[in-house]
Amino acid sequence: MAEKVTITIDGRTVSAEAGEMLLWAALDNGIYIPHLCADREDKENPAASCRLCFVEVQGRPVPVPACTLPVSEGLVINTRSERVDGLVAAAFELLMSNHKLDCKNCPANGNCELQRIAKERKLRLKPKNLPVLERNLPVDNSVAGLVYDPNKCVLCGRCVRACRRGGNAVLGFTRRGYDRVVTTFGDVPLAESGCSGCGECAGACPVGAFSVQK
Ligand code: FES
Repeated sequence: MAEKVTITIDGRTVSAEAGEMLLWAALDNGIYIPHLCADREDKENPAASCRLCFVEVQGRPVPVPACTLPVSEGLVINTRSERVDGLVAAAFELLMSNHKLDCKNCPANGNCELQRIAKERKLRLKPKNLPVLERNLPVDNSVAGLVYDPNKCVLCGRCVRACRRGGNAVLGFTRRGYDRVVTTFGDVPLAESGCSGCGECAGACPVGAFSVQK
């Protein structure tokens, strides 16, 4: 059995498994930290790409991503500070400037991690300072029951890892910068990629870019 340690988060003393990442210890104790790219199925190898889970750690000069911080006895954390809130707000605004905002018609409406982050941190879903960049990429519904709208993708990579775990491994990242996108090998429609339509990607997607059509 894993050794238990005692840590303090936002003034609350909680128990956690030694070495587990702070993000999971906080969430399991009912303390919300914004996150998109972290994956419960792959806790040991955080991608740390969304930059939403910053926290302050007592004794450290700069905020660190909670998904990469193994807990140890006596750790003292603050999930909120002016610096942390500024970093999270900036990362969120950047994400939202590149996300097709169509909550009313989105299958993830009401169960979307972007909506949760906006609510928890009192952030606007619609960017205030950055222009919204519309990509107008084609929606892929070539596999029965599965829809992929890359215009909603936030590049968290959870679908890519879920697809690999499901034994298909047909998804990956391609291109750089603004053009970066999750797609199939050779950028072919899902139906031509070897996709089995298992829906693991939809189950992992936190924002409704991949969804299962009933
Ligand atoms: Fe930690 Fe994305 S959840 S960087």
